Amino acid sequence: MVCGYHGLRYDSHGRCIHMPSQETINPAARVPAMPVAERHRFIWVWPGDPALADLALIPDMHWNRDPAWAADGRTIKVACNYKLVLDNLMDLTHETFVHGSSIGQAEVAEAPFTTTHGLNMVEVARWMIDIPAPPLWSAQLQRKTGVPTGRVDRWQIIRFEAPCTITIDVGVAPTGTGAPEGDRSQGVNGFVLNTVTPETETTCHYHWAFARNYLLSEQSLTTDLREGVANIFREDEIILEAQQQALNANPGKTFYNLNIDAGAVWSRRLIDGLIDAERPTAMAAE
Ligand SMILES: [Fe+2]
Repeated sequence: MVCGYHGLRYDSHGRCIHMPSQETINPAARVPAMPVAERHRFIWVWPGDPALADLALIPDMHWNRDPAWAADGRTIKVACNYKLVLDNLMDLTHETFVHGSSIGQAEVAEAPFTTTHGLNMVEVARWMIDIPAPPLWSAQLQRKTGVPTGRVDRWQIIRFEAPCTITIDVGVAPTGTGAPEGDRSQGVNGFVLNTVTPETETTCHYHWAFARNYLLSEQSLTTDLREGVANIFREDEIILEAQQQALNANPGKTFYNLNIDAGAVWSRRLIDGLIDAERPTAMAAE
């Protein structure tokens, strides 16, 4: 790391190893050092006790680098609390109402879903059988198969991994080709990869990517999908920032959870548990 003003150079332990025009380095020149790891095309920073940093805790987002998938994405700054982004992704019912021109359709809001949860994860799965494909997926399937898209089976399997990562297995396959039974070979499959870094109580950095497992060598499709998903997420940003403003304007207002919030409620419970578990050590350190 090099200081952008003075040119001081530091090693990975935070020690200064070079001062311009100076032979003796002042040992007091140090910067904080944190363990980092590059994985799944993201850089993971461990801001806690360095002794507790553990590579095994990095969430699985391998689709972002796996040769069997083509992926690209972006980082956006959203003016809302990070948990609102997680709520949004754990309940895709909103696609029907927010993303009507691309991936939304009435069937998303009508289809039943199942919620399961474990020590560190929450999963919300929804299958929509024998439905018309929404515009984005209809175009993807037609591009892969070369024939007009008919009725499809559509899936959304949302997986939250504490504290802040959500991967969503999405896609469609022609109805009757066996996708619900496990054979997705006739369909198109994507993974929406999301991980969120809180910044302040009302802002966060939202890192996302979209991976697909078909037409892997078409770079123009990779770019088109990245831009398409970016446009969809812009629709979310408008809602999320309006939601944060409404929360700011009504402090202390009670939340009402709907049935469709089950995934988000469990995710928030896991996050609260992790924060509570860190609290005694944080207080002792103070
Ligand atoms: Fe959305």
